[in-house]
Amino acid sequence: MAAAKSCTPVLGLILAVYMCCFFPAGAVRATGRLIDKGSLQINSNNVLNLKALVAIGRSTSHPHGVGMKVFHRDAPHLRKRRSEQATKYQDIRAGSMRKKDMHTPPGLESTTLRRQGDPAGQYYMPLQLGSPGRDILVILDTGSEILWVQCQPCNICGSQIIEPVFDPTISSTYHPLSCNSQHCLQGGVGFQTSCNVSQSLICKYQVRYGDSSTSIGDLSLDTLTVNSTTGVPTAITNFEFGCGHTNEGIEAEIGASGLMGLDRGNKSFISQISSHYPKVFFYCFPDRINNLNSSGFIHFGKSYVSQHLQYTPLIQNTASDFLSQFYHINVTGISVAGHLLPIPTAAFDIDASGNGGTIMDTGTALSALVDPALNALKEAFLNRTKNMKRVPDPSGIGLDICYNVSASSSQLPKVPTVELHVQGEGAKLRLSAENLLLIVSTDEKQVTVCLAIRNAGLVGMGRNVIGNYQQANHIVEVDIEKSRVGLADAHCAME
Ligand SMILES: *[C@@H]1O[C@H](CO)[C@@H](O)[C@H](O)[C@H]1NC(C)=O
Ligand SMILES: *[C@@H]1O[C@H](CO)[C@@H](O)[C@H](O)[C@H]1NC(C)=O
Ligand SMILES: *[C@@H]1O[C@H](CO)[C@@H](O)[C@H](O)[C@H]1NC(C)=O
Ligand SMILES: *[C@@H]1O[C@H](CO)[C@@H](O)[C@H](O)[C@H]1NC(C)=O
Ligand SMILES: *[C@@H]1O[C@H](CO)[C@@H](O)[C@H](O)[C@H]1NC(C)=O
Ligand SMILES: *[C@@H]1O[C@H](CO)[C@@H](O)[C@H](O)[C@H]1NC(C)=O
Ligand SMILES: *[C@@H]1O[C@H](CO)[C@@H](O)[C@H](O)[C@H]1NC(C)=O
Repeated sequence: MAAAKSCTPVLGLILAVYMCCFFPAGAVRATGRLIDKGSLQINSNNVLNLKALVAIGRSTSHPHGVGMKVFHRDAPHLRKRRSEQATKYQDIRAGSMRKKDMHTPPGLESTTLRRQGDPAGQYYMPLQLGSPGRDILVILDTGSEILWVQCQPCNICGSQIIEPVFDPTISSTYHPLSCNSQHCLQGGVGFQTSCNVSQSLICKYQVRYGDSSTSIGDLSLDTLTVNSTTGVPTAITNFEFGCGHTNEGIEAEIGASGLMGLDRGNKSFISQISSHYPKVFFYCFPDRINNLNSSGFIHFGKSYVSQHLQYTPLIQNTASDFLSQFYHINVTGISVAGHLLPIPTAAFDIDASGNGGTIMDTGTALSALVDPALNALKEAFLNRTKNMKRVPDPSGIGLDICYNVSASSSQLPKVPTVELHVQGEGAKLRLSAENLLLIVSTDEKQVTVCLAIRNAGLVGMGRNVIGNYQQANHIVEVDIEKSRVGLADAHCAME
């Protein structure tokens, strides 16, 4: 079905989101002009249309769900702020805030899958924490559970795009959780809690990611305020999160204030707001080739209603509580330029011990595939790009299918479309050049681009992972209640 719709008016699709959010279904028809997804620029008339519509939406407050803008961390306005802040806060960080005598509470070992020197970055969402609310910027991560935020006093904190580091002592609604609280005793699956009663009665948490990044601190409650694009800020009181005093590794070093887990676990954002909103969310990330400067969006508590969505069931990995929290989907095959590759089904199956299968993870940038799938993909991709100038891997991160193209072209080279077919009638994730090629270096004459998919084994993952680089330019709806994921091609750049 999506194949027949490959000339779908992609902007119309986005307009439809907002129409669905703000108007009764069917009341108004979107009138966006056609945009050829192959062409690189969104034309300015369409941008204006889109803005106008969002503005209408703002004045029509909607009781269901909250929507927020998301940004890529390299978006220029964030980058600018980051470099200004860097000099301003460097001294503080080098001095009193950065103590090396970190103390790791005993018995705290928990790990989530994924991530290793991930080069292409994350998508961030602005929020406010505490009373009065302080601006924070968190990484959106469907591959983990807890929200943690860097907290003063810092043993170790990374630099933040939005300073200062959250200070719990000046929030009137902040409460550290005690060791005998239900929250502490219950703990979480994607993170660990512990108590050393001879030290303090405050519950400690620790989360450790696949790349060995960690956040350690006090399990706490405070008010989280989301400034919904629907115009109504929503305060979530007593939100359970980690006040992180020791934050190390890549997660802490990429400018965010912290990280928001969106998996199925009891303590994830989507679970904690589930008494007010249905457990469903959808998002649309702008690609980083042509729309790095743009915001996309994420919307919680509401379905994305569109006939363009193709659904695939969410698969439950029952091997362990930990694995059951991930959003597994059932990839059934990969095609290149319309030709289905000969890949054994075992490359996509979850085995008896819970390894294998495929997860959707916004916290991982570049997708990873297990050997048999990746090898078949590389072979077919190379076969179809023989006319391009292949160069040795300059990336240093194991992206070995690389090409040099002329720097004078403002467009990516034409490459065959790759489709990840998933269970469900016609459901697939269609990857175009913006999802497939990562720019790894440029000089005045040449640009080096590499196939942006990595080897799952090399990056320490025993499963296929669909990362955010490949999810960009799609509407992805995760519906826990209906146990399904909806997918559609889209143009996600909003402004
Ligand atoms: C608990 O904290 C005390 C004081 O810092 C320390 O001496 C003791 O070793 C800690 N207990 C454990 C089990 O780590
Ligand atoms: C909330 O969002 C509105 C519109 O998106 C913006 O004008 C306002 O500054 C935001 N407020 C805060 C506190 O971020
Ligand atoms: C999640 O919470 C429910 C209800 O509190 C509980 O029954 C369940 O065991 C929890 N799940 C996990 C994996 O901790
Ligand atoms: C992003 O904006 C900057 C100026 O702020 C501009 O130089 C750059 O070309 C833009 N990038 C894209 C991909 O539009
Ligand atoms: C995945 O899809 C294939 C093909 O439709 C099916 O045979 C298989 O049972 C599915 N796996 C799961 C775990 O549902
Ligand atoms: C290689 O590509 C050509 C078309 O460019 C196609 O006819 C052929 O089947 C492909 N071979 C393989 C092994 O993919
Ligand atoms: C490819 O382009 C890069 C610049 O991105 C340049 O440094 C390198 O020398 C080029 N390699 C070849 C083989 O032309």
